[in-house]
Amino acid sequence: MDFQSNHPVKIIFGSNKLNDLYNILTENNLHNGMLVCDPYFIKTGLANKVMHYSKGLLKDIFFDLTPNPTIASVDKCAEIIRNKNINFLAAIGGGSALDCAKAAASVCMTPYSIVQFHSGDRVFTEKHIPLLAIPTTAGTGSEVSNEAVLTDPLRGMKAPITCDNFYPTIAIVDPMLTLSLPQKSTASTGFDALAHSIEAYMSRFHKPESDELAASAAKLIFEFLLKAYDDGSNLEAREKMSRASVLAGLAVDIAGTTASHACSYPLTYLYDMRHGEACAFTLDSIIRINAEAEDGRLHELASKIGFRDAFQMADQIKAMKKQMGMKATLKDAGIELSDIDNLAILSMQPDMINNPVPIKIDMLIEMYRGLSK
Ligand SMILES: NC(=O)c1ccc[n+]([C@@H]2O[C@H](COP(=O)([O-])OP(=O)(O)OC[C@H]3O[C@@H](n4cnc5c(N)ncnc54)[C@H](O)[C@@H]3O)[C@@H](O)[C@H]2O)c1
Ligand SMILES: [Zn+2]
Repeated sequence: MDFQSNHPVKIIFGSNKLNDLYNILTENNLHNGMLVCDPYFIKTGLANKVMHYSKGLLKDIFFDLTPNPTIASVDKCAEIIRNKNINFLAAIGGGSALDCAKAAASVCMTPYSIVQFHSGDRVFTEKHIPLLAIPTTAGTGSEVSNEAVLTDPLRGMKAPITCDNFYPTIAIVDPMLTLSLPQKSTASTGFDALAHSIEAYMSRFHKPESDELAASAAKLIFEFLLKAYDDGSNLEAREKMSRASVLAGLAVDIAGTTASHACSYPLTYLYDMRHGEACAFTLDSIIRINAEAEDGRLHELASKIGFRDAFQMADQIKAMKKQMGMKATLKDAGIELSDIDNLAILSMQPDMINNPVPIKIDMLIEMYRGLSK
């Protein structure tokens, strides 16, 4: 099979790389920037530390954002960029801060609200300001993706926008920043990366390169996620999870996500599940559906990682969810049996098209019913 590869993000990976921020900014001619983070990093002092590392190249901080960032946060951030003539953004945090900054870095070059682009009424031109992405979770891979996932409370939806402008110029992946992640977030974000790797492998649009990236990421996650969960100060486990998150992010960037990610959006929006936990909720069920109906690629992935077959891999995922106290049944998630038809309809999000087996609403209804105990 022939393929081309052209990944635009410069990745700087390693413990304490954040300390080199000033050199990284000057080498890339970045000045007069604004830091984007969520309020947690103001409270912990990390935001101030980043300002200090930038030696004045970051002039301002924007922190009016929440997990599952809203279109309102993006618009506010873009307005400040316009008013203060900010030249670049540095986003530090989980996927939420990174996604808010990615969208704001393009919207600020237009007179419009992000709503126009999120609804599909407009598409971005290539104009945007540069973005430095500094993840503090190990899971979303947002630091290497061209996607921003945004919530629009007025339209009652959470959905991704994809645009090549959204690729960060530089990603500084410093695993030290993930040491403070609480157990619940370690589990949820780690499962996000696992879902990225498995879904990229099974995607209809997989390529040889994404297969290699996805299999390497999944192997690392099966080996190190529980270690990072059990002992958050285990730097080796944290480093391996950060590496896996980047590899899985690169794999998804090539191949896309599939059914579990499609299902995750209404689960997050309607039942307030964290993104990774929402992906994990259906991941083992989707693996079983696909493994029963497709051409053996999932069994091939499972055997590369050391499982007997895809069903044993799905069993291990189910066991890990239990070990890490994640929501695994409808009851855990607060989903009523009577909600299932609507949930199945809302789960037919665009990523569903990438699934190797065509998914029908009836199949999702049956899958969700199967999670009733
Ligand atoms: N753009 C993409 O390619 C992509 C891919 C997957 C998911 N996402 C999106 O990313 C978002 C989820 O991001 P996330 O799971 O990284 O979490 P998040 O950014 O939503 O953060 C969740 C919570 O964890 C806290 N936190 C983050 N890092 C921490 C640390 N090191 N120590 C202690 N607390 C920390 C945050 O303050 C926040 O309260 C969702 O909106 C999801 O849809 C985007
Ligand atoms: Zn994800």
